[in-house]
Amino acid sequence: MDSDIAVLVGAGGGIGRALIEALRGDPRFAHVIGLARRRPSAMADDAGHTWLEADILDAPSLAAAARRIAEFGAPTRIIVATGVLHGPGLSPEKSLRALRADALSRLFQINAIGPALVAQQLLPLTPRDRPSVFAALSARVGSIADNALGGWYGYRASKAALNMLIHTAAIEHARSHPLAVCVAIHPGTVATPLSEPFTGQTPPERLLTPEAAASRILRTLDDLSPRATGGFYAADGAAIPW
Ligand SMILES: NC(=O)c1ccc[n+]([C@@H]2O[C@H](COP(=O)([O-])OP(=O)(O)OC[C@H]3O[C@@H](n4cnc5c(N)ncnc54)[C@H](OP(=O)(O)O)[C@@H]3O)[C@@H](O)[C@H]2O)c1
Repeated sequence: MDSDIAVLVGAGGGIGRALIEALRGDPRFAHVIGLARRRPSAMADDAGHTWLEADILDAPSLAAAARRIAEFGAPTRIIVATGVLHGPGLSPEKSLRALRADALSRLFQINAIGPALVAQQLLPLTPRDRPSVFAALSARVGSIADNALGGWYGYRASKAALNMLIHTAAIEHARSHPLAVCVAIHPGTVATPLSEPFTGQTPPERLLTPEAAASRILRTLDDLSPRATGGFYAADGAAIPW
C-alpha cells in the first residue's frame, strides 16, 4: 500500500510552520514535504521530512519541486499556506483614494496567482484511485456576500480571485480525480506576523494560536467528502458564502 505524503507550501509562515508540525505528528503521513523560499530555521531534513526551495511566483521552481515530490509518490494532502496582507509598500487600503496599482498587483500575484500556479503544478500529482485534499488558505474577508465593512480592497479582492481560481480548478480536477477535494479555507484569526498589526482589538478568545488553527484546519480537511470540492470553508467546517 502507498504511504501517505503531505505537502505544505509556505512552510516558513506562522500557520505553515504549525501545519508542518501537526502533519509530522500524524502517523498517517509517512513523509511531509515543506516548500518555502528559504529553509525555515528548525527545518532539517530527516527520514520523514524533506524541505524544498520554491517561490510560488516562479513557475519553474514549482515545476522542479513537483518533480521531486513525484519521486516520493502521490501526495494525498497539499496545503498552500502562503499569503500577504501588509509589508513594505503594502498596507490595507481604507479608501479608494489609497489604491495603488503596484500594491494591488503584488497582492494579486502572491494571494491569487501564486496559489493557482501551485495548483497547476501539484494537483496533477494527487492519486486518481484514492481520496486526496488540496486546500489553499483564503480569508473570510474575500467573501463578497460577507463584506459589510468595506476597506482592505486589495486583500479582499485577491482572496476573492483566489476563491474563483480554486473553485474552477476543483471542477476540472474532479473530472479526472473523482475522489479528490479541492477547497479554499479560512483559518480564523490567528496570531502570526500577517495579522499582528490588526489584532489589537481582537478579544483574546477569538485569537487562535497557529497550533490551534492548524489542528482545526486539518480536522476539517479530514472530514470533507468529495461532494465538498470547490467550496469555501471556515476552519470549523462551516461553508462561507461567496
Ligand atoms: N493570520 C491570520 O489571522 C489569517 C486570517 C485569514 C487568512 N489568513 C491566511 O492564511 C495564510 C497564512 O498566513 P499566516 O498568518 O501564516 O502569514 P505569515 O506568517 O505572514 O506567512 C505567510 C507565508 O507566505 C509566504 N510567502 C509570501 N510570498 C511568497 C512567495 N512568493 N513564495 C513563497 N512563499 C511566499 C511567506 O514566506 P517567507 O517566510 O519566505 O516570507 C510566509 O511563509 C495566508 O494566505 C493568509 O492570508 C491568515
